[in-house]
Amino acid sequence: MTVVGPFGLSVRDQALEADVQTGLAAVEAGLLDATKSEVPFITEAAQHLVRAGGKRFRPLLVMLAAQFGDPYAPGVVPSAVVVELTHLATLYHDDVMDEAEVRRGVPSANVRWGNSVAVLTGDFLFARASHILADLGPEAVRIQAEAFERLVTGQILETAGPRDGRDPVDHYLDVLAGKTGSLVAVSGRFGAMMSGADESVVDILTQYGERLGTAFQLADDVLDIASDSHESGKTPGTDLREGIPTLPVLHLRAQAAQYGRPEDLELVALLDGDLTDDARHAETLRRLRVHPALEQARRDTVRYAEEARTTLAPLPECYAKSALEELCDAVVHRAG
Ligand code: IPE
Ligand code: IPE
Ligand code: MG
Ligand code: MG
Repeated sequence: MTVVGPFGLSVRDQALEADVQTGLAAVEAGLLDATKSEVPFITEAAQHLVRAGGKRFRPLLVMLAAQFGDPYAPGVVPSAVVVELTHLATLYHDDVMDEAEVRRGVPSANVRWGNSVAVLTGDFLFARASHILADLGPEAVRIQAEAFERLVTGQILETAGPRDGRDPVDHYLDVLAGKTGSLVAVSGRFGAMMSGADESVVDILTQYGERLGTAFQLADDVLDIASDSHESGKTPGTDLREGIPTLPVLHLRAQAAQYGRPEDLELVALLDGDLTDDARHAETLRRLRVHPALEQARRDTVRYAEEARTTLAPLPECYAKSALEELCDAVVHRAG
């Protein structure tokens, strides 16, 4: 048994291990290649986050999904580069939106070079992703365009908040499916599609990716509260500071409204105050970390991951399927 990929998946088959390692190494080379510009400063800015690391969760999913066809088919690696480049571009933009100062354990591009450079570098990465995509054919372009539209819509809906009368948890789950589920779904879809897997397998891995991606983002939102920055490479409590209500906070608010416990009402009052105040922010984070609402959100995350796992049931038993099943646990139990 060998451990591969960002989540330490235990792969019990040497051929699978070799395929995944080979694929991920080719993706690394592809990413460095795709982020080179004639302008040295653009190369520096574009490679800033590539070189800082990251889990490469989406390329890993492409490689595992490609096991259901020919994992060495020519479109597999480029499609993985496309999804990681797209993801990377959204990180540059997201850190501007969220005023985030640290990403992948290094200063975010917006902190290092300012918002304009960060936004334009994100655009540059999209351009490079589109270039690679063009060679993968019109269907791939269409799939990516639709996913990207959903992703951006999710980010905009998060910023806009729920419209009047809309249940905040339903709104939140729509945002998650859009901003994260969409691109993880494309990762499963591209891997299967480019490898020439059967249409039914492509559909299963698309749906699996959608659910897994939503679970992944739920875990990210729990980690924003629960993790330390040396594990996540990001600043804890960024969602709180930005006033983005994630599931633990939505659960807390619902509990406070229903039971009126004084300590819950106090915490809600803290949340409603100015969380750009460092002391207030630290106190709110400290209380949320030990609040049952956080556990409730963790349980929901596990449930979503279980739904992703269930989607895989019709696939033939194989090592890749086991790895995809294991991935459901890994995204939920990761530390960063
Ligand atoms: C961060 O994604 C943004 C989310 C959608 C949660 P990742 O957690 O995959 O970030 P990296 O690529 O490992 O840095
Ligand atoms: C990021 O969501 C989603 C996209 C980049 C599309 P978050 O803002 O929650 O992710 P982190 O926590 O900054 O990585
Ligand atoms: Mg963010
Ligand atoms: Mg964000």
